[in-house]
Amino acid sequence: MTRTQLSNIVLAYDDHGSGLPLLLIHGYPLSRKLWAPQVAGLASAARVIAPDLRGFGESDAPEGPYTVDQLADDCAALLDDLGLREPVVVGGLSMGGYIALAFWRRHAARVAGLILAATRAGADSEAGKAGRDTAAATAREKGSDAIIEGMLPKMLAPSAYTERPDVVAEARRIMDGAPVPGIIGALLAMRDRPDSTALLAEITQPVLVIHGADDALIPPSEAEAMHRALPRARLALVPNAGHLLNLEQPARFNAEVRIFIESL
Ligand code: MLT
Repeated sequence: MTRTQLSNIVLAYDDHGSGLPLLLIHGYPLSRKLWAPQVAGLASAARVIAPDLRGFGESDAPEGPYTVDQLADDCAALLDDLGLREPVVVGGLSMGGYIALAFWRRHAARVAGLILAATRAGADSEAGKAGRDTAAATAREKGSDAIIEGMLPKMLAPSAYTERPDVVAEARRIMDGAPVPGIIGALLAMRDRPDSTALLAEITQPVLVIHGADDALIPPSEAEAMHRALPRARLALVPNAGHLLNLEQPARFNAEVRIFIESL
C-alpha cells in the first residue's frame, strides 16, 4: 500500500503487476481490500491499481458531500500522479461502477475499456434518494456499525450466509471501520448521481458487464439492460454469486477479466 498526496486529497492505493493498467474502483461502504483476490490473481495479466476512494480505507476522509464526478476525478488525479497518460481499463463494482461511468463521461479518451460489475446505469428513484437520506442520518446518529450491520445481509448470495462463513467474515472485515464522513459523503454522491442510461450508446470502447446471478442489491436485469444498450459489450452472469461477486467467485471473475483484457 502507498499513500500519495494529490492536489486536494491523500489517497491510499495498491499497485501490483505490469502491463495494461487496470484501475479497480470499490463500492460502498467498502475499501480497496475488496479487490484483494484481483490484485493477487490478475497482477500477472495487468498492472492492477486499486485505490481507497476518498472517505474509505486508509485514504483521507474529509466531510462531504462528495460527488461521483469528484470521486472519478480523484481517480484521474491518481493516474496522473502515477504518470499514466495512456488509456487504462477502468473497472468499478456497484458505486464503483457509477464512478467508472462518471470517469468515462469526464475522461473518455483515457479509457481503453470498462468493466461494469454489479452496477446499474440509472439514477436513484425518489424512494431511493429518500433512503440515502435515512441512511446518512443513521450513520450520523449511530455510527458506521449500524450501516454495516444493515448492509452485510444483502451483500452476498443468500446461500453464503449459511454455507460460507469465511466469505461473510471477509465482507465484514472489508467494511469494518468505514469512516462516518466517507459513508455520508458517498451516500450523498450516490443520491445525486446523474442518470447515465443515455450515455451507454456513446461508449465505443469495449465493455465487460459482469454481475452475480443472485445479487440482492442490484438485480441482474440491470446488467442485461446495460448490455443491450452498449454497442460493444460482453455480458457475464456469474452463478452462485451475489453483490460482491469478485469476492464470492474470484476464479470466475478473474477469468472473465483476463479474457476481456486479452481481447483489447
Ligand atoms: C454499493 O454496493 O456500492 C452500493 O450499495 C450501491 C448502491 O447503494 O446503490
